[in-house]
Amino acid sequence: MQGLNEVEVLIPEEEIQKKVSEIAARINRDYKGRNPLLVGVLRGAVFFLTDLARRINLPVKIDFIAVSSYGSTTESSGIVKITKDLEFSLEGEDVILVEDIIDTGLTVKYLLELFEARKPASLKVCSLLLKPARLKVQVPIDYLGFEVPNRFIVGYGLDYDQKYRNLPFIGYLKDK
Ligand code: IMP
Ligand code: MG
Repeated sequence: MQGLNEVEVLIPEEEIQKKVSEIAARINRDYKGRNPLLVGVLRGAVFFLTDLARRINLPVKIDFIAVSSYGSTTESSGIVKITKDLEFSLEGEDVILVEDIIDTGLTVKYLLELFEARKPASLKVCSLLLKPARLKVQVPIDYLGFEVPNRFIVGYGLDYDQKYRNLPFIGYLKDK
């Protein structure tokens, strides 16, 4: 299988799935009687969002936004550009922004400001991963899966140069 030589496993598949179930259970409690709108950030958050959505027992809506900030390198430029906007209006919606990883925090900070201006009923952040060592700005995280070390993370949606997204586990590149 791809990746087994270059990638050191950090979080095995079963642990990810257990955590996703725990987060879904919290969302089920917190949003009881409501229809939250899950907004995934393409492309990394897709795997997490679809697993999460299947474990939420409320009628969720889903939408996606695409941003670019990284190119093919492993360093954040700090510049966030919307390459595909949402299809839905956020007005009056209970929005949960779903991210794969919060690194510097710049992407989430930018998106929160953008979304807030669209007048949602509520707005929360759900991120599978957080790299605390790299945070540059303060961002609220309402639902968090795991903290990860300051390494370049791949798998379960996360890529390096578009590779490794479809690994079922999360790991880090041995030479990065
Ligand atoms: P931030 O704006 O620095 O918080 O970066 C957020 C985005 O950068 C994430 O949504 C990822 O797409 C990407 N990213 C940050 N760190 C990593 C990593 O270790 N592996 C893969 N992608 C990453
Ligand atoms: Mg991303």
